[in-house]
Formats: sequence, C-alpha cells, structure tokens
Amino acid sequence: MNTINRISLGNNGPQVSKLGLGCMRMSSIWGSTWPDETESIATIHAALDNGINFLNTGDFYGAGHNEMLIGKAVKDRRDKAFISVKFGAIFYNGAWIGMDLRPTSIKNFVSYSLVRLGVDYIDLYQPSRMDNSVPLEDIIGTVADLIKEGKVRHLGVSEVTPDQLRKAHNIHPVTALEIGYSLADRQIEADLLPTAKELGIGVVAFANTAEGLLSGNMTAPLPADSYQLHFSRFQGENLVKNLEKVEVLKEIASAKGVTPTQAAIAWVNAQGDHIMPLVSMARRSRLQENLAAMQISFTPAELETLDKTFAPGSILGGTYLAR
Ligand SMILES: NC(=O)c1ccc[n+]([C@@H]2O[C@H](COP(=O)([O-])OP(=O)(O)OC[C@H]3O[C@@H](n4cnc5c(N)ncnc54)[C@H](OP(=O)(O)O)[C@@H]3O)[C@@H](O)[C@H]2O)c1
Repeated sequence: MNTINRISLGNNGPQVSKLGLGCMRMSSIWGSTWPDETESIATIHAALDNGINFLNTGDFYGAGHNEMLIGKAVKDRRDKAFISVKFGAIFYNGAWIGMDLRPTSIKNFVSYSLVRLGVDYIDLYQPSRMDNSVPLEDIIGTVADLIKEGKVRHLGVSEVTPDQLRKAHNIHPVTALEIGYSLADRQIEADLLPTAKELGIGVVAFANTAEGLLSGNMTAPLPADSYQLHFSRFQGENLVKNLEKVEVLKEIASAKGVTPTQAAIAWVNAQGDHIMPLVSMARRSRLQENLAAMQISFTPAELETLDKTFAPGSILGGTYLAR
C-alpha cells in the first residue's frame, strides 16, 4: 500500500492528506460523457485505503450526482473521509449561468447537500466564487452560523482575491483557500499565496495539469472537438509557443523516469507544506500514478530551470482561470 503524509490544513487546522482527490470528473461536466460509476467508487475506496482522506466536490458537479456518488462511496466509512463541498454556482443544461449566495439560498443548498451526501455534517464548506450582489459579511456569516449549528465543520473559500480572503478571515477564520495553481498559472505567487501564508490558511491547489497543457500529450493544433479550444491558451500560435515550454518539462520528467503530469503535480507539491495538490482522478490507475508523484523531488537546478521557463505570465493566453 502506498500511503500518504498528513498535513494540517491551515494553522492548527484539521489533518488532511497532502494529496487531495478531486471528484469533479467522476460526473459529466461541460457535456462530457458520464464516467463509469463503479470505477469512480472503487477509486474513492482505494484513495481512502491509501490514506487520501480529502474528497473535493461541488453541489453543482453533475447537478448533484457527484455528491450522491460520494455519499454511496463513504456510506460505511464516513470517519475516514474529509468532505469538501463548494456551493453557490448555478448551472443549467450543463452550463454556468450565475451565482446565488443569498443566505436563504445557502441554507437551502446545505440542506440538500447533507441529504445527497448522506452525512450529518460537511467538513469544509465554501462558496465556489464570490458574488458582489451579496455582502461578504452575509455570505461568510451564514457559513459561520452553519458551523455553530454543527452542519459544517470548517469554512473555505475558492478563487478569491487577496482582499476578499483577508475580509472573509476577519469575519470567521478561513481554514482553506481552493485555487487554481500550476507551472502555467503562477500569478497568485505575487499576492494571494503570501496572503494565505500570512493568515495561516491552507492552500488546496487544483488544475495542476493546466487543462492538460502540462500532460505532454498535446500537439498543435488540437482536434476540433477539444473543449480546451474555448480558451486562448490553446489556440493558434499561443499553443505552439506554449508547447515549446512544455518540452522543457518533458525533458526534466523523462530524465527522472516520470511522466510530465507527475512532474507537474510534484512541482505544486514542492511549493510548500501548506499546499495540497488537488487532482482529478476517476480511475484507480491514476491514483497510483499520482501517489507516486508525491515521492518526486527536484534538484535546485531543475527547480531553477522550471522557474525560468514557466516564469509568471510566460504562458500565452488564458483559461477560465484568467485573473
Ligand atoms: N474551485 C474551483 O473553481 C475548481 C475548478 C475546477 C476544479 N476544481 C476541483 O479540482 C479538481 C482538479 O481540477 P481539474 O480536474 O480541473 O484539474 P486536474 O486535476 O489537472 O485534472 C485534469 C485531468 O488530468 C488528468 N490526470 C490526472 N492525473 C493524471 C496523470 N497522472 N497522468 C495524466 N493525466 C492525469 C485527468 O484525466 P483522465 O480523465 O485522463 O484521468 C483529469 O481529467 C476537480 O476534481 C475539482 O474537485 C475546483
């Protein structure tokens, strides 16, 4: 068995695995086909057996399907799982149509989530984005009330600005910040990551592969049906130039006998003890690959090469994470 280290999520926070299991792609997202539910549940069980306790979902992933799937998987092992749920994003026909963070809506959302998950409490509960139409005090204050009631254990936030992070933390201690972070998206190193560190907030870092850019499997141009073509990073000359940089990652990975994706996850892992790579895995084979990625370390020379090649802003074009 390949077991994983535990870290404290934020200063004196709950104990979680250094690698998190992203469950989003165990449901249909953006019109993708539905993954094999039996394999998804087997992957969650294998993750828990290997010491990965952090399971990440959103109430809008697969219109509630993702939570029901996790509910089935943890039915007889709730105590082994730390469940993180995002709320507030409203989807229709698989497409994002807005946010709803009104206090009455949050109370409604949590009630449904608890039933779909089949649990008495949610370990980490977080607005998936902020919504300027509702005061931050009301959003965070409502989650703080849910914590008092015992429905939620810890407050998280996702994709916020440093200012929003500070304000939220002043209203109620924030345990974790969920944020897109990879070699290809390093802008948060300038302000958000230092703010989280200063405040003692754990960092749950997703999209480590940058929508597959860092997987080493892409060639330009992408097939016409690739969802990535919606993002400027994957279009025309941008992709050609970006893949030249990925060649450097491929060389370093190859010299270490690992895949570029494993190296990309290992790089995020190496950025600090308080940073958890949160990786989508819907099959057991991926789980073993990514557990192995947690054992990869870099020499100072390798880190310097990656740092220079993927300097913040050097990847051309953006994704939905454009900041
Ligand atoms: N807060 C937010 O706004 C937000 C946004 C997006 C996602 N999330 C959360 O973060 C999690 C991760 O995000 P993500 O799915 O966008 O990014 P990701 O973890 O980089 O996953 C992208 C793809 O990488 C592939 N992959 C995983 N391990 C691999 C390996 N060892 N080798 C090759 N490919 C590998 C998977 O493809 P295969 O299907 O081929 O295995 C997966 O579909 C999600 O599950 C979700 O829980 C949060």
